[in-house]
Amino acid sequence: MPRPIIAIDGPSGSGKSSTSRGVAERLGLSYVDTGAMYRAMTWWMLAHGVDIDDPRAVAARCHEPVIELRVDPIAPGVSVDGDDVSADIRAAEVADAVSRVAAVPEVRARLVASQRAMVDDAGAAGRGVVMEGRDIGTVVLPRADLKIYLTADADARAQRRASEDSERSGTGSITAAQANLQARDALDSTRAVSPLQQASDAIAIDGTHLTLDEVIDAVIDALHRDRG
Ligand code: DC
Repeated sequence: MPRPIIAIDGPSGSGKSSTSRGVAERLGLSYVDTGAMYRAMTWWMLAHGVDIDDPRAVAARCHEPVIELRVDPIAPGVSVDGDDVSADIRAAEVADAVSRVAAVPEVRARLVASQRAMVDDAGAAGRGVVMEGRDIGTVVLPRADLKIYLTADADARAQRRASEDSERSGTGSITAAQANLQARDALDSTRAVSPLQQASDAIAIDGTHLTLDEVIDAVIDALHRDRG
């Protein structure tokens, strides 16, 4: 049986990252966090003083940064121009700016091409992939073996994001997380290119009342069901 390609999409804070890592770890697959690539691009734009409210300026420079993703689900991370920026890309300045950078078509074209290349490379090495994002099932990998659309209600998502923030930086407010998630969801869902959307052939999982292990089980069950 060829190694599976699994696409996991959903809004911010729905538990996509923990779920995707957990599935990749259990099944021995590569883990591709596409949000980290959009964040790394945004981090680079901010570090180089590019006006992220000017889509033409962002488009003109989006081919410059060298973005490398580590795809081991136990030790994922991202570097830009050789520097590890895995922690920096989680900063509030990046979270506030990333949706505007991710809405620029040239940015998406560049990152989608490298996401597809990563799947091809993994396939050539006999490895399957779990790829998480917003447009994986709809645009990046329309022929994925399994597509999951993971949701959770708004309070659960804000709570999760606030506790991740406080683990990372010692402070995390639910009100701030709620405001950032709402703003990003609105931008991510209404942008012209590749908006956040459930693919017609995706399986929806609502994780609000499930533990992480239960969500991981649900994804793996769906894979086995789908593949008979
Ligand atoms: O999953 P995340 O919160 O790290 O994603 C960061 C931002 O990147 C999010 O606001 C939307 C954008 N994104 C995207 O547009 N397409 C993807 N495939 C993944 C993320």
